[in-house]
Amino acid sequence: MKRYLFLLTVCAMVVLGSCKPVYNPPVLPEVPSLAEKYADYFPIGSMIKADLLEIASDTAIKHCSIVTFNTFLFNRVHPQENIYYWDDCDKMIGFARAHNMKIRAHSLIYDKTNPEWIFKDNNQTVSREVLIERMKQHLQTIVGRYKGQVDYWTVVNEATGEILYDDPDGTPVISCALYKPSKWQQIIGDEYVELAFRFAHEADPQAKLFYNENALEGVAGSDKRFKTYTILKNLLSKGVPIHGIGIQGHWRINMPDVDEILSAIDLFASLGLEVQITELDISFYPLLRWYIPALVPKIENFTEEMSLDQAWRYHTLFNGLRSRKDKLTGVVFWGLSDDTSWLRTQPDTRMDWPLLFDGQYQPKKAFWAVVDFP
Ligand code: GLA
Repeated sequence: MKRYLFLLTVCAMVVLGSCKPVYNPPVLPEVPSLAEKYADYFPIGSMIKADLLEIASDTAIKHCSIVTFNTFLFNRVHPQENIYYWDDCDKMIGFARAHNMKIRAHSLIYDKTNPEWIFKDNNQTVSREVLIERMKQHLQTIVGRYKGQVDYWTVVNEATGEILYDDPDGTPVISCALYKPSKWQQIIGDEYVELAFRFAHEADPQAKLFYNENALEGVAGSDKRFKTYTILKNLLSKGVPIHGIGIQGHWRINMPDVDEILSAIDLFASLGLEVQITELDISFYPLLRWYIPALVPKIENFTEEMSLDQAWRYHTLFNGLRSRKDKLTGVVFWGLSDDTSWLRTQPDTRMDWPLLFDGQYQPKKAFWAVVDFP
């Protein structure tokens, strides 16, 4: 008898566990402005690519009170030692300022966007001293040029160590190191992060300087969360001018739990830092897509069921985020329209529908879910 009762309980748990809430957000005759709807909570907006500015500008003007420009990536803005390209940066900053949006400039030091010249000196690996000098010159030229115009800089992106990484010859390494063994870290040492913040601060003491990182939430990310916390705590205790943490927010349809996200926000806020969600999107694929894409079947069509699932996910997420309005100073989507999302090309080419607007910049159910509150 006991055995049957046990089986019955397990079956009930499986059935109940797989029941999804039915949530279909109300669609109003007028599309409200996201920025206005969130005015009492936090600035909200999107990353906008320079080559999409024209097509995206009406949507951005209506909905964004904060924008991120990644025209500041090292290899784009400073591809050769004495050559800087300012056109896109100037254009984007001019646009945001004309429309009274807060500006996040992304990312000054990011190991995936190094220009080739930076680590070479007369065909040898550059010395620590020369690299520090080059970093200083790079940061101070850019931050100095836009002094007083940029609200938030991502000074360093993705420097935290990962449990598993491939060393330069491709051998997998398991590591407990706090910092990722990037080129910057290998030549300058862990101190490169501290130096970057100090140099940027010298160039614009009023600008808010952010550290930006991925996988800071969720069970799989907890190691990174606590390593990042430790890095920031150590730097803050040395008086390094870090003002905020960017939690990237590349999340999935069923993970991480909203509670995990909120506890990451609370943890970083406990250091006295501003917290921003800086690259929000919600993919329909599991994390495995990043490791073995071939094992994850491609989804060809965006069905009604997927649209409702995503609406529920965004709705519960934003209910949670609004509850942290005293800690969050910005929430930024990683793009406006699904068809321009990086997730359609990285890590492989396939359809995904992670954002609030479709390819025609029309609001999806996910949009209506985010504005569905009194
Ligand atoms: C990371 C970086 C961004 C960008 C995305 C992919 O999240 O922070 O700068 O490269 O990956 O678009």
